[in-house]
Amino acid sequence: MRTETERAAKKTEKEIEKLLDKMTLDEKIAMIHGAGLFRSGGVERLGIPGLVTSDGPMGVRAEFMNDRWIPAGNNDDNVSYLPSNSALASTWNPYRAYEMGRVLGAEARGRGKDVILAPGINIKRSPLCGRNFEYMSEDPKLTATLAVPFVKGVQHNDVAACVKHFAANVQETDRLMVDEKIDERTLYELYFPAFRAAVQEGNAYSVMGAYNKVNGVHCCENRELLDRVLRGEWGFDGAVISDWGGIHKTREAAECSIDLEMSVYPDFDEYKLANPLKEAIQKGEISEETVDRKVRNLLRLMFRLKMLGKHREERRTGTYNSPDHRQMILKTAEESMILLKNEGRLLPLNAAKIKKLVVIGQNADRIHSDGGGSAEIKALYEISPLMGLKCYLGGNVQVEYYKGYHVPEKPKMFDHNWQADSLDDLKDTNIGQLARDEEHMQEMHRRQAEERLAQLGKEKEEIHEKNRELFAQAIEAARDADAVIFVGGLDHNSDSEGIDRLDMKLPYEQDELIGELLKVRKDLIVTFIGGSPVEMPWRDGAQAILWSYYAGMETGTAFAKILFGDVDPSGRLAETFPERYEDCADAKNGQFGLWGGIGLEEGLYCGYRHFDRQHIPPAFCFGHGLSYTEFTYGGLTLKAEKNREIKVNFTVKNTGKRIGSEVAQIYVAPIGSRVDRPDKELKAYTKVELAPGRSRKVTVTLKEEDFAYFDEAAHGFVADAGDYEILVGASSRDIRLKGIATLA
Ligand code: BGC
Repeated sequence: MRTETERAAKKTEKEIEKLLDKMTLDEKIAMIHGAGLFRSGGVERLGIPGLVTSDGPMGVRAEFMNDRWIPAGNNDDNVSYLPSNSALASTWNPYRAYEMGRVLGAEARGRGKDVILAPGINIKRSPLCGRNFEYMSEDPKLTATLAVPFVKGVQHNDVAACVKHFAANVQETDRLMVDEKIDERTLYELYFPAFRAAVQEGNAYSVMGAYNKVNGVHCCENRELLDRVLRGEWGFDGAVISDWGGIHKTREAAECSIDLEMSVYPDFDEYKLANPLKEAIQKGEISEETVDRKVRNLLRLMFRLKMLGKHREERRTGTYNSPDHRQMILKTAEESMILLKNEGRLLPLNAAKIKKLVVIGQNADRIHSDGGGSAEIKALYEISPLMGLKCYLGGNVQVEYYKGYHVPEKPKMFDHNWQADSLDDLKDTNIGQLARDEEHMQEMHRRQAEERLAQLGKEKEEIHEKNRELFAQAIEAARDADAVIFVGGLDHNSDSEGIDRLDMKLPYEQDELIGELLKVRKDLIVTFIGGSPVEMPWRDGAQAILWSYYAGMETGTAFAKILFGDVDPSGRLAETFPERYEDCADAKNGQFGLWGGIGLEEGLYCGYRHFDRQHIPPAFCFGHGLSYTEFTYGGLTLKAEKNREIKVNFTVKNTGKRIGSEVAQIYVAPIGSRVDRPDKELKAYTKVELAPGRSRKVTVTLKEEDFAYFDEAAHGFVADAGDYEILVGASSRDIRLKGIATLA
């Protein structure tokens, strides 16, 4: 017996075929490539609209002109600014991921979009990747469990999520050409799971192909990735959209499962899947069926979005800038901030005891929403930490602000856009059909690297000179205050699409300033806003450290509420914070940030898997984050159930004096495995909020797949029978309970 859904799907397929039958080749071709920088062509005659897309993950991007990378200059495209995916992941709360998806979807629909180019779910392989702030985690399980509700939330609004960038888009350097050599097992265990979950469990309607190559082939032309894995193994029948300029060759793209070519140039008819494809079909070199397949997938997407068919009237309208969006954004921001250190219970601060508060550091007073690359947005507003503190404390506390350090101004570009510029390589490769002139490219890379270093050198001098006075003012002010808060970190000069960081150090001489400040104020509260880990050489001398990723329009509000204890910090690190970059796997094997190609030689040993295996203590480990209260764990029981499932029970108790949330993490560590496997891997987690003195029994069921590894010979996941250690704890290195489960 067919279900209602199956019957409806069958009907849709029939309607798709009917439409397809009526279409001319020109009409079909119009649908499969960009007709504007952010929209595809439609077929007016048949009532088929074009697809309207927009970036991105932190809110719906401002309108651009149709054929130029110039903002349209509208005054009606300011939007809610959502926490970045890195912030969202730090909540370790799938419910918040659903809510943020729902907000983003509603805003996208409200702005008339069909596809929102989010979420970014690439695995963070290196702390230096410029786009890490847009991604969730170094761990596939955490990423997958957040990506699924996010996608569902977006699509609740009849807008398609477009999960990106498939696959393994792990660096920005040479992003259009870099060839990543990755073994199959690593792909299946590390780089694929979040995409598979987004597609199979989240039912994502669209996927974006990445710029890079995987094992010699560009991802947008990669039959292995798109045909065999995505469509074949995972059964994906939605639309695959190229990253902007990710398609290079007509035949390859035509013949593989990519449905829509988007790019950065206004010569839409010359896109690979436009006139060149039409000509090849007319000459009989490529079959028209290749186009039909793409059109079917795009039409199916449109039916799902109620852009076509009898449910059109029912399509959700969405809205943007609604007060409840802001409320949900605030809640997520509050849950995302991570208290890394809190010696002597320096935090929370007591507002009643503060007459004068000194705030130091550029990130106290900085706006981040308008930067980062395609994730940039025009926020309705953005509450900075300084504003958040002032709003919170009111007029009776004297809040003094000092810049502390100098940040060089970046020239604003009005006549062209970084996005087109950043793809200049592409221009070269477009001409001459990718006959890549190695010498020319190498010369260009060398020149670019030299220019960047020269620019950084100049900036360094400028910073050093200006900092003398700024340091002195800040240090002087810090001596005489009831409390001093430093707000530093990174910004989108380094957390940015198109470039990777050169090191893991704080920019603008912040380390020196923090060191000096700690000499005069042992009780300095060190806080950061940033998108990726930084080294903290002064860490032992600091009592309190709070980390926030770009947390959206209410960052400052959440920041104040946490520092003053209205909210218990419940963020946990979704990535390792290494002591120094040299400790990382990609630094050790030197396979990061290179032009041409990289071998992901560390394989599965990325993030905490590497730090565990090499016995390297990180500065702050994966899963770490403090609360203002304390929790104890007890009563672990493990019970084998049918279907090779293991039921894990334990109790978490709040033994402190305040209400707070704990993220209980469950790792599986194979014992005596016949293949090499990471020492332990996160397989489940749960966030529990508890009043003081209260406890909660947690039950988690580990499935067979939670014990499995990818067996290349069998080409599938295998869970060997045997013993596994089950580790339950407050972080990857703060394991509180251990037990052994036997898998039958
Ligand atoms: C980025 C994508 C983005 C697209 C459209 C590309 O440069 O890699 O993430 O969605 O541009 O702006």
